[in-house]
Amino acid sequence: MIEVVEITDSDLIILEKRLDDFDDFWNFNVVKSEFENEDSCLFIAKENDEIVGFFGLKYGPFDIDIMNIVVRRDKRNKKIGSLLMEKILEIYEKSDKESITLEVSEENIPAIKLYEKYGFEKVGIRKKYYGNKDAILMKKS
Ligand SMILES: CC(C)(COP(=O)(O)OP(=O)(O)OC[C@H]1O[C@@H](n2cnc3c(N)ncnc32)[C@H](O)[C@@H]1OP(=O)(O)O)[C@@H](O)C(=O)NCCC(=O)NCCS
Repeated sequence: MIEVVEITDSDLIILEKRLDDFDDFWNFNVVKSEFENEDSCLFIAKENDEIVGFFGLKYGPFDIDIMNIVVRRDKRNKKIGSLLMEKILEIYEKSDKESITLEVSEENIPAIKLYEKYGFEKVGIRKKYYGNKDAILMKKS
């Protein structure tokens, strides 16, 4: 069984050692500073006590921004991303925020498909946001 729970200090230590198993675009200092930021929250997916995914949210005055959602490389395509997204939407629905937003590389098809599956719509483009690549802004209200 997989549970999605808020990250703890001890999970953070485990994640520091295993971050390369997830992706290469978020370094540990970013994860740690978001953990310490009171406007952010980090949740992990745990399967048999192993961390198999995580996401970070940042609360703005009117919206929630999804900073990241990542599934461990060897656990992708098993609906863990969907489980994480369902938790994100549960948090959003319980909040008083008007919308939920994110940026994604135009080339990141798995992520774009995941967001579209949960009703996010493309609302803009940020040119050259990821080096040479444009970012697509997506939103759900
Ligand atoms: C994006 C990501 C979180 C999806 O996680 P996942 O656990 O593999 O996703 P799921 O198995 O729940 O699939 C959800 C949907 O995503 C889409 N999807 C997932 N992998 C896909 C792929 N390789 N190609 C196309 N679509 C894909 C499908 O539409 C799927 O819908 P379905 O449930 O109807 O089949 C995962 O690929 C990941 O960690 N990527 C690297 C990190 C990243 O890029 N994060 C986004 C940052 S903006």
